[in-house]
Amino acid sequence: MFSVMAHRVTFFPRNVSVEIPDGETVLDAAIAAGVQINSVCGGEGTCGKCQIIVEGPHKAERGPLDDQVWSRGYRLACRTLPEGDLSVFVPEESQVRVGKIMTSYRDLVVHPAGPLVDTLVAEMSAPSIEDHLADMERLRCALERPDLDIALPALRELPVALRSGNWKVMAKVARAGTGDCIIKVRPAVNGCHDLGAAVDIGTTTVAIELIDLHTGRTVAQASDYNRQLVAGEDVLARIAYAEDRGVGRLQELIIGTINQLVSDLCALRNAQEDLTCQIRADEIMALSVGGNTAMIHMLLGLDPRNIRYEPYIPITHGPPVLKASELGLNIHPLAPVYCIPGRASYVGGDVTADVLLSGMHRKDELALLIDVGTNGEVVLGNRDWMLTCSTSAGPAFEGGEVSCGMRATAGAIERVRMVDQNIDYTTIGRTAPRGICGSGLIDLVAQMFLNGHLDRKGHIQAEGSELARSTGKVVKFVIHTGEREIAITDDDIANIIRTKAAIYAGCSVLIDSVGMSFNDVDRVYIAGGFGGHIDIGNAQLIGLLPDLPRERFEFIGNGSLGGAKMCLISEESRKEAAGIFDAMTYLDLSSSHEFFDQYSSALFLPHTDMDQFPSVRRMLER
Ligand code: FES
Repeated sequence: MFSVMAHRVTFFPRNVSVEIPDGETVLDAAIAAGVQINSVCGGEGTCGKCQIIVEGPHKAERGPLDDQVWSRGYRLACRTLPEGDLSVFVPEESQVRVGKIMTSYRDLVVHPAGPLVDTLVAEMSAPSIEDHLADMERLRCALERPDLDIALPALRELPVALRSGNWKVMAKVARAGTGDCIIKVRPAVNGCHDLGAAVDIGTTTVAIELIDLHTGRTVAQASDYNRQLVAGEDVLARIAYAEDRGVGRLQELIIGTINQLVSDLCALRNAQEDLTCQIRADEIMALSVGGNTAMIHMLLGLDPRNIRYEPYIPITHGPPVLKASELGLNIHPLAPVYCIPGRASYVGGDVTADVLLSGMHRKDELALLIDVGTNGEVVLGNRDWMLTCSTSAGPAFEGGEVSCGMRATAGAIERVRMVDQNIDYTTIGRTAPRGICGSGLIDLVAQMFLNGHLDRKGHIQAEGSELARSTGKVVKFVIHTGEREIAITDDDIANIIRTKAAIYAGCSVLIDSVGMSFNDVDRVYIAGGFGGHIDIGNAQLIGLLPDLPRERFEFIGNGSLGGAKMCLISEESRKEAAGIFDAMTYLDLSSSHEFFDQYSSALFLPHTDMDQFPSVRRMLER
């Protein structure tokens, strides 16, 4: 008999420890300890973002770290194996920080009717020697629903509820799934517990709302980063992680994120004034979820690997309604968990939710919906038809693949204005700049282009510029000097141009495939957390958004959260979501020549075809 050697790893500054078996990396230890370390590539050893400083016996591979960084003692968490007990310091740059998370969305156009869990009140006469009807049948009779199902835990609490409530009870009826089912019974007293939750599971962030199912009012809101970030920043890195180590750990991480947020919601709600009663998490009776297809697979513990490989087939587009206890969610164990159906592996329920919230599927006008993120998802259509596609835009707008890029957290430059050689910028939290987030990058590239610091291929024009510097072959444009210089290079700009080109090309392919032009589009909805911060004019200057009048654009905010709320409180909305799923035709762009041509044409500022951007041309001529 032999035992596997274990090593204790202690992380600072949080001062938390964990034991891991020999052969596991410091990144594995961080995941087990709940310490969030940036790991853009999901532990592949290629991104260089998981830098740590280690004290104690270990073996490490250098990966992409340069000599200078290596000699200063930095190691990669994913390439460091403990050979004894270790102390690990996680520097600020490697910590995942909570930043701006979009939790708002446009006003809903739906009223509560047929929520996922309904409350029915039943009043009945007490049994007597002449009236032998059993408790369950008596309840069904009073509700005039003889076939209504009842879950065993509710059946167990029924006799006490009936008698202590003097034969007047409230039955919580789950309306989704295979049929209506009573999941809880309690005496009918005036109370304030009629609650459900809507959640948006994003690849980066998770946002949740506690909702009064009776009135539709949002009672409390909370958000955080998705704890799965330790397993890679984008969907493909997460799927690769699941392939290597199983989906179970990723499921634990997302369930852990939601459970923590549920507990935050209850604390927020209970801290409010004018309450007649406090609530507990197990009084949340239903959960409605919006998320991309991979996130929904991971939530359910479904192996997502086939999403990654041609022909990109998920296990399901629209999972069955499940019980909270089956997933380990800390709400009422029998609470139904409903996931909004998605159309394809890369057009998920979050996009269906965007459409639902925008209302484009109910109108005659032609609408284009763009959800800007690591994948740019696009929907074109109206009440009669809808086409959709997804483009792999890359992480540039979320701070990845850009040397000065960062997420939208404190210190990120979020707005840039420039006149000739003078730059003016604002940072999130009005603190010292640490890098540039997506909205700032769009502004910066647009303003550099407008002021002649970039040519149409996106090359920095160093001659005569006070802000451009050359080091060897690398030309950079300096936005901020000081201890922490912030500068952008030709390579960074090329990555940004590739990202915007992919999104614009996706829109163009949809428009062309129905023989229309952008001018035929009556309305453009911009969805997604990042979308709400975009300056439309600057996005048009770089050729990310079509050159249409400003009044045709509408920000809808976090459509995934708004759509999830609609489906939580309204049966009609759940039917509409199913109808959107049926109505959308998916175009796979992965091997489309048309997409490749459009993409190549869009790899310029704003585009090779300036006729598509007449207002930008006029601006440049001026
Ligand atoms: S290099 Fe370690 S996570 Fe990317």
